[in-house]
Amino acid sequence: MGNCPYFYSNFSTRVLQNGGQCGRLGGDMKFLITAGPTREALDPVRYLTNRSSGRMGYALAGAARHEGHEVILISGPTTLDVPAGVDFIPVESAQQMYDAVRDMVKYADAAILCAAVADYRPVAVQEQKIKKSGERLVIELEKTPDILGSMRDVFGFTGTLVGFAAETQNVEEYAQDKLRRKKCDMIVANDVSRHDIGFDSRENEVTLVYPDHVEYLEKDTKEHIALHIIEHATLIRHA
Ligand code: CTP
Repeated sequence: MGNCPYFYSNFSTRVLQNGGQCGRLGGDMKFLITAGPTREALDPVRYLTNRSSGRMGYALAGAARHEGHEVILISGPTTLDVPAGVDFIPVESAQQMYDAVRDMVKYADAAILCAAVADYRPVAVQEQKIKKSGERLVIELEKTPDILGSMRDVFGFTGTLVGFAAETQNVEEYAQDKLRRKKCDMIVANDVSRHDIGFDSRENEVTLVYPDHVEYLEKDTKEHIALHIIEHATLIRHA
């Protein structure tokens, strides 16, 4: 029991009934989860990326699996081990992640888009390594495809949709706005101006934003936060 990262005595009665053992608990959903950063190539040896470790997304995949659900994990590059029993699709760029989600979404009845997708990418990828020249180098960027924003209207996804929002101010207000614009059932919002949680950290403190209410989760490990999110996504599905 002590070795199971998903054991959480205050949380899931189903986990408790199972004696806290990691194992199949009768979940019947198929989750599609995106995780990690993306890499946007500049030339054959350079790329733009961000500090996402992928831990939150991998914890979600592990938690969903622990609860007995099937999981497709679509992830940008990380150093993490893929949780056992998870179908894994590795990608690098936002475009590759977009293509993989578009192809896989028909198999899912819940999607949690946790990846820190680059919002912009270089307009042109140089075929040869960019050589040093002047004192300044200007790189033109263009928007990447919005995966979360495509789920309903482009991919026709009708299942439970959970997005993430990393904000530095007005966290709830911006998350509510994102929830409406992207037609999500829930947004997991966190304050990335704090250094003790979120990006690149083992812990997180999030606010679950629904269309009609919000719920605060106390600071906790990403594994425990992940179990809460999976449980909430399951409740939305069965409501
Ligand atoms: N996301 C995505 N595709 C992108 C960018 C983001 O699917 N190209 C998803 C993330 O996985 C996350 C959510 O969108 O679930 C939040 O990303 P964010 O960049 O904060 O969303 P925006 O609406 O672009 O917000 P902002 O205006 O703050 O940039």
